[in-house]
Amino acid sequence: MFFLTTAIDYTNGSPHIGHAYEKVLADVIARYHRLAGEEVYFLTGVDQHGQKVQQTAEKEGVSPAEYVATVTARFSSLWEKIGVEYDGWAETVDPRHKTCVSAILTDLHARDQIYKKSYKGFYSVRQEQFLTDRDRNEAGEFGAEWGEVTEIEEENYYFKLSEHTPWLRDFLEKSDDTILPAFRKAELVNALEKNTGADLCISRPKDRLTWGIALPFDDDFVTYVWFDALINYISFIGYSPDPTLPEFESIWTNRPVHIIGKDILVPAHGIYWLAMLHAIGFTDEKMPQLLVHGWWNRSGEKMSKSLGNIVDPMELADTFGVDALRYYLVRDIHTGKDSNFDVERLVMLFNTELANELGNLCNRALNMSVRYTEGVISPGGPLTPDDTALQQSLIDNTAAYRKAMDNHEVSMALEAINRHVVHCNQYVDRLKPWELNKNLESKGRLATVLHHLAESVAHCAVLLSPVLPDAAAKLADQVKLPKLTELKLEDLKWGLIPDGHEIVKPSPVFPRIEIKAEE
Ligand code: MSP
Repeated sequence: MFFLTTAIDYTNGSPHIGHAYEKVLADVIARYHRLAGEEVYFLTGVDQHGQKVQQTAEKEGVSPAEYVATVTARFSSLWEKIGVEYDGWAETVDPRHKTCVSAILTDLHARDQIYKKSYKGFYSVRQEQFLTDRDRNEAGEFGAEWGEVTEIEEENYYFKLSEHTPWLRDFLEKSDDTILPAFRKAELVNALEKNTGADLCISRPKDRLTWGIALPFDDDFVTYVWFDALINYISFIGYSPDPTLPEFESIWTNRPVHIIGKDILVPAHGIYWLAMLHAIGFTDEKMPQLLVHGWWNRSGEKMSKSLGNIVDPMELADTFGVDALRYYLVRDIHTGKDSNFDVERLVMLFNTELANELGNLCNRALNMSVRYTEGVISPGGPLTPDDTALQQSLIDNTAAYRKAMDNHEVSMALEAINRHVVHCNQYVDRLKPWELNKNLESKGRLATVLHHLAESVAHCAVLLSPVLPDAAAKLADQVKLPKLTELKLEDLKWGLIPDGHEIVKPSPVFPRIEIKAEE
């Protein structure tokens, strides 16, 4: 089983393109692994508890439950609109999740992994955490990013994180594939070096926060939102401390891939989550791999409500179409790195790579087949060096695509498809099928050329299907490629299109996006 998850989105506001990118990336990876013949389970969802949600709901004059229901619907309807298809949906207010969190807390408490102590310190309401001197800026103050900071003293429950950090250091040192891409590992290792024996506060007193999961051993407290949220990765697939359930065992078969943004590697996933899993008995072989992606920014700046520079993915999908949005989100960023959102590049990439190159190839190839050979595709005569070069381009670029996708580098995989499409268009320009059609003796050659083009369109449709499933289905339909959804990567051999296959006049799959000049 290939089990992958994304971060669960915080239900405090509306989804933006950063959220959409992560979900589309996960959807593409899930679809690719299905295409590779693997069984896949894709879990995503929403993170609904915590102080910020409680405060926003209060401001809006509704209950937190009503508030999160409204925001949750914004996320789920976006996923439906842009074709993000998951197998499991996690909502942290779900009783199934609450039961699991309680059971884990009870178990850790009984095993002395959780203790109570009093702590006096500076608390950031916005970030819902106590701050340390390390959080002060160069002027020795807590910066504006922490919002209101007040000194408080209170009793809380702590998870013995420090008992697990020696194991974590050792585990990370031995393991080269836990943090992906590898360059992100240094940041985590540095943070661990600085972490000298601190434990993790996992409770919030109810007089401050009620919107959370009550501690099973002390009803005056609720669970810290991160401790609650991280457990979604196991609660929604049937984990229970004793005994583990068959559903869980069938999904978490080896090392799942957790897709997260760079901001939540340290400390949440890289330290807290791995330590929590270790504390509840997960072995090294079962530890997740953390695929850490970069951020979509605007003109180099973080997107935020306060800066008013948020990009709404729903609006983009309505204006430019789902294909253009999905394509752009995984095409114009390298997994792990940041990128700047730029609507002009969205339009440009769609128009050049999809409308002009692939769309053009498909239209030309199929129109000429309809016109010159009555839509009948047949291999024709002997192969020339041009044909074998085209077949080699397909072999090489399919291999490059697979290598890139296996490394979760979707942008590079799309580049490989484009290289082959460009090769095909140059093949058309060089071999001029319209000239070949003029002479009876070159009809065999014409058939071969058109066959190479139709075959290429069929392969490209399959390779593109994880990123653009609907467009790929249309392309496959136009070359009458049977059962696109049942095809696997290993079926991608020359000869997808049977001899004598008939096609009909194509209609454009990627109509150019025309931007109307402002009146
Ligand atoms: N609720 C927590 C995650 C809990 S996981 C157990 C959270 N939520 S979030 O809504 O703030 O972010 C959800 C995901 O979106 C995170 O992986 C985050 O990195 C990602 N992104 C948020 N803004 C982003 C961009 N501007 N660009 C790309 N991804 C970004 O963190």
